Amino acid sequence: MDVEEALEFVDHLALTTTGKHLDSLQKAILRGAWDNQKYKEIAQHHNRSEKYVKEVGFKLWKLLSVALGDEQVSKANFRAKLENLQASNIVSLVGNGCIHIGNISADSSQSSKKLQSEPQEKNKFNEKTSNSKPKVHLDLADAPEPNLFYNRTSELTTLENWILGRTRLITILGLSGIGKTALTLQLIPQIQHEFDRIIWRSLRNAPPLASLQTDLIKFLSQQQETELPDLINYLRSHRCLIILDDIQTIFSSQQLAGTYQPGYENYGAFFKQLTESSHNSCLILLSWEKPREIAALEGDNRPGKSLQLNGLGPETQEIFREKGLGEPEKWSELIDLYRGNPLWLNIVATMIQDLFGGSVSEFLSYDTLFLGDLESLLHQHFDRLTASEQQVISWLASTIEPADISQIADNLQLSPPELLKVMQSLGRRSLVETVKQNGRSHFSIEPVIREYITNKK
Ligand SMILES: Nc1ncnc2c1ncn2[C@@H]1O[C@H](COP(=O)(O)OP(=O)(O)OP(=O)(O)O)[C@@H](O)[C@H]1O
Ligand SMILES: [Mg+2]
Repeated sequence: MDVEEALEFVDHLALTTTGKHLDSLQKAILRGAWDNQKYKEIAQHHNRSEKYVKEVGFKLWKLLSVALGDEQVSKANFRAKLENLQASNIVSLVGNGCIHIGNISADSSQSSKKLQSEPQEKNKFNEKTSNSKPKVHLDLADAPEPNLFYNRTSELTTLENWILGRTRLITILGLSGIGKTALTLQLIPQIQHEFDRIIWRSLRNAPPLASLQTDLIKFLSQQQETELPDLINYLRSHRCLIILDDIQTIFSSQQLAGTYQPGYENYGAFFKQLTESSHNSCLILLSWEKPREIAALEGDNRPGKSLQLNGLGPETQEIFREKGLGEPEKWSELIDLYRGNPLWLNIVATMIQDLFGGSVSEFLSYDTLFLGDLESLLHQHFDRLTASEQQVISWLASTIEPADISQIADNLQLSPPELLKVMQSLGRRSLVETVKQNGRSHFSIEPVIREYITNKK
């Protein structure tokens, strides 16, 4: 393999996993890595800052790590990794728009047409490779590129154990920016050997269920529309992983959490069917809100599980280091205020750089918590609440101490059943925190949400 073949190979991979070809800087980084150049030299040749080139390089190695199912790809070992893969006949370019990477087979044309069987003389797979490892077909074109990623070791272990334990439905829940998508991207290389097919679809444009099902089965079965098999039957005969991101788009605003929009109710039955019927595949849902019917399907010995994603811990300090913020001794205060939400912390770090030249203490010296660009993100969550939910959350924002149900009920005109429904719904949206005080559950909201609501009044 020479550098041009390596570039062609990585370009196929990039196209298959991200839907985009490599750009000129990415190619320059790969050429530089092949020739053992330093980032500094690559940056000079390309008229870019070294920091920027490093960032692009880092994302590229992440992308390769995910696509190859190897967490360790780096600039230093990129060439050796590809040469090893080729030496063991694990990688081959077969010249018909398909690449084979050991147990991964990807069709770079992005079409869901059946993979053609390549001519014998071009098939460089050796007996051992093709017999011992079934090929995994991946379609991650709808997923974003993997980015810098810190920690989440215990969440990744939990998810991996659930998958190994044949859980059929996994729901990952959390506020916008908490890291659901990033975590799931990180999970794929860890578990992909378990599956025959992996497909990622975002529901950001709220597709009707029928068109989503057709799209899924076309990729999974690699069949034309006229001969598509039944999805459930297919999921029985093949172990598939289906990841559906941005599920909240099929839920209604101004309704309790997890209420389907008119015309999307059939999704509920679909999720239920995939969870209850016997098959070996797995569905992962990523959502701001928990679908209602899922609660009943979950439990220790049940086929459904959900993971409530909370903020990151001290490792988020890396975000501040990367952004060049000063005063590291103040960083933990920031992480606590913004509850370790990596998106919020990224936005806040940029704001501190822009407004205060990186001085965290100057930022913290203001009495109010500055929201800036966070406001529009929070608005998307607040906008979805019912009138009763808004009433409760506004009252919670006005009290400093966590409150129990009876305190909330004493202050608001809501019947006990309605109040319980509202609290459950706010919990399903990850908008209230629950703490135990004297053996009783008390509810509160996090500082950023409190600030947002207080500003709105
Ligand atoms: N563990 C992590 N380490 C570093 N950065 C992270 C981590 N998790 C997430 N991020 C970053 O935080 C941002 C938000 O993450 P992500 O898009 O995964 O959130 P999300 O929960 O999927 O949000 P949404 O519900 O809006 O889709 C991204 O820029 C992502 O790269
Ligand atoms: Mg996401």
